[in-house]
Amino acid sequence: MHLLSLSASAALLVSAVTAAPHGIKLLSWDEAHEKASALVSQMSVEQKVGLATGQGWEKTLCVGNTFESTNPDFPSLCLQDGPLGVRWADNVTAGVSGITAAASWDKDLLYKRGAYLGVEFRTKGVNMALGPCVDIMRSPRGGRGWEGFGEDPYLQGVSGSLTVEGIQDQGVVAVPKHYILNNQETNRKNSSSNADHRTLHEIYVWPYARMIEAGLGGVMCSYNQLDGTWACENEYILNTVLKEQLGFRGLIMTDWGAQMSNEPSANAGLDMTMPGDIVMGDGFSWWGANLTKAVEDGKVPEERVTDMAQRIAAAYYKMGQDKGFPSIGLNGFHREEAPEVLIPGIEEHTKIVRDIGAAAVIVLQNNDDILPLSGDLKKIALVGSDAGPIPQGINGCEDQSCAEGHLAMGWGSGTTDFPYLITPADGISSRAGDDIEVSTTFDDWDLETAKSVASDADVAIVFAMADSGEEYIDVDGNVGDRKNMSLWHNGDNLIEAVAEANDNVIVVINAVGAVLMPWIDHESIKAVVWPGLPGQESGNSLADVLFGDVNPSGRLPFTIAKNENDYGATIDPNFNVEYTEKLEVGYKHFDAHDIEPLFAFGHGLSYSTFEYNKLKVKCKDKKGTASASVEVSNTGEKDGAEVAQAYLEFPKDVGAPPKQLRGFEKVFLKAGKKTKVNFEFTPIDLSYFDEDSESWVLAKGEFTVHVGASSRDIRQSATFTL
Ligand code: NOJ
Repeated sequence: MHLLSLSASAALLVSAVTAAPHGIKLLSWDEAHEKASALVSQMSVEQKVGLATGQGWEKTLCVGNTFESTNPDFPSLCLQDGPLGVRWADNVTAGVSGITAAASWDKDLLYKRGAYLGVEFRTKGVNMALGPCVDIMRSPRGGRGWEGFGEDPYLQGVSGSLTVEGIQDQGVVAVPKHYILNNQETNRKNSSSNADHRTLHEIYVWPYARMIEAGLGGVMCSYNQLDGTWACENEYILNTVLKEQLGFRGLIMTDWGAQMSNEPSANAGLDMTMPGDIVMGDGFSWWGANLTKAVEDGKVPEERVTDMAQRIAAAYYKMGQDKGFPSIGLNGFHREEAPEVLIPGIEEHTKIVRDIGAAAVIVLQNNDDILPLSGDLKKIALVGSDAGPIPQGINGCEDQSCAEGHLAMGWGSGTTDFPYLITPADGISSRAGDDIEVSTTFDDWDLETAKSVASDADVAIVFAMADSGEEYIDVDGNVGDRKNMSLWHNGDNLIEAVAEANDNVIVVINAVGAVLMPWIDHESIKAVVWPGLPGQESGNSLADVLFGDVNPSGRLPFTIAKNENDYGATIDPNFNVEYTEKLEVGYKHFDAHDIEPLFAFGHGLSYSTFEYNKLKVKCKDKKGTASASVEVSNTGEKDGAEVAQAYLEFPKDVGAPPKQLRGFEKVFLKAGKKTKVNFEFTPIDLSYFDEDSESWVLAKGEFTVHVGASSRDIRQSATFTL
């Protein structure tokens, strides 16, 4: 079940809190396919097609439901967004977004998050959870980058796999998305993303490969085309890559309305059409009766339809859904028809959200050790609308489309209704207690009031945000993707104004991805803190770190540049989106072109200091396993966690980027203590994708292992030869 060895300990940890109370037994793929084959062999073509076809948009309570079969019996399956919680449901947890989960770099917490999500989806009767999102943050302005785990495929692969394991261990099929090269919202339904095969495999397919190793049940193909062929009818990426090369045994479903044909998609390897209609809500389907006819006419072989049904049923059996699976308990489309279903133990999920939110807070800068806030403070000023309540109410705007008040998630289908929201002002005020006065202004435009509130405080904390989301919602001219990388709502001016009025300024940014920081060199701006998108417990997680109850250990899952044109890719308004940066995504571009970032990928400060010593590397066998170990010491005065990162520099002649993340471990160390951190490199970690042979090839020659505290803070390097 757990292919990532490190997640085994995570599984033990989670078993204490959210372990499968349902006594779920997951099957192997062989066992699951055997059961599925026994079922499907009794089905007519129509019945098999029914499993593969959605009932239509807004026809049921879930965002998608397949048709049920009687005699033999097989239920209608409920599919629901995803990825940060159960969409359109009461009494669920609205936790941290993918990008914030990744910022924790904490394998235990990533698994626990997946596991509590699995409990919630299952309890609400959802068979297939539409997540995680593993779209690479190719451009910082990409609208849905926040739903996924950042700019690096390795980090996406580890985070995605742990999430999948967590969800599926609770008996729910995980359906990562959007396969593939869906990295911007602009023209997402008609553009063609064009990348060479090496780039496709090494950057974009990589996370899927790792999740398939972890037992993945489903994949959602995307809206866009690849080299002029729609993703959901692209024989190469569906049949060849997923099913043949990677041995994927689950099902491939469309994104909602992403199917463009009947036979071509069936024959290319698509297994399920969602939500079922050609245009969402029109009641016509490419499949249903049309697919049955295509089989009768000999345009789609019956074995292909048998295979679709078998894959769908196998995913269901693999997760043990044939035994005691709950009925639907969510209010899809806000219909309020479903019975209210409470989730036992949900308080524990709240705690996980607060913990992961705190573990993900990135302290980017901390001059004069202004943080943690000292106990002698008398007065704190909180400035900016991002610190305060959402004027329209926590769920007042459909799919979080308002972008006003505190930002704790982006907008679109990847949202979850908040049960409540602890704003920064709530969290800080309650932690400050009666001894510290907290004064606030949530007006971003009244700079005079901002200055006067800030002027007599010991510390002024100014909040600013930048939002983005999915293309069907346009917020202030941002059609999903961000129009620019500036802070919203007058943020830069507000920060400058507060910095004029107070010498001890802490900037807190809640944002979907990197922003420009033109004020960064202002001497009054002592600290910059990045909580990202922390969900319902936002203010508590932040207060935990600001007051030093939790020593910060969040690390950037993306690069923050000095200028937007320092990045290797941007949003492309053209029909053909050429991936000309190839392998140089994120920090790899900065490394390759010797561009200094403002804050590097992997960067984040602690209230303690850590040293790295005694790096040892070893080629364990020439067939491609190697290992490294390093001693990490907490040399400061506070207990805390360090994220030791291992980057590999490949042999020169294979054309790899200067360095690539291939290992990380978050280790907690008491002040003055040290520990040995080990990294194991598998053959895949040491290989590159060879376009001529269409396969992964072990790189031969000298590798350098760089270990350090960020991609630009390498502390030790050593070589081995393969
Ligand atoms: C379209 C989105 O792209 C996808 O992520 C989501 O799962 C479906 N809509 C269903 O809401």
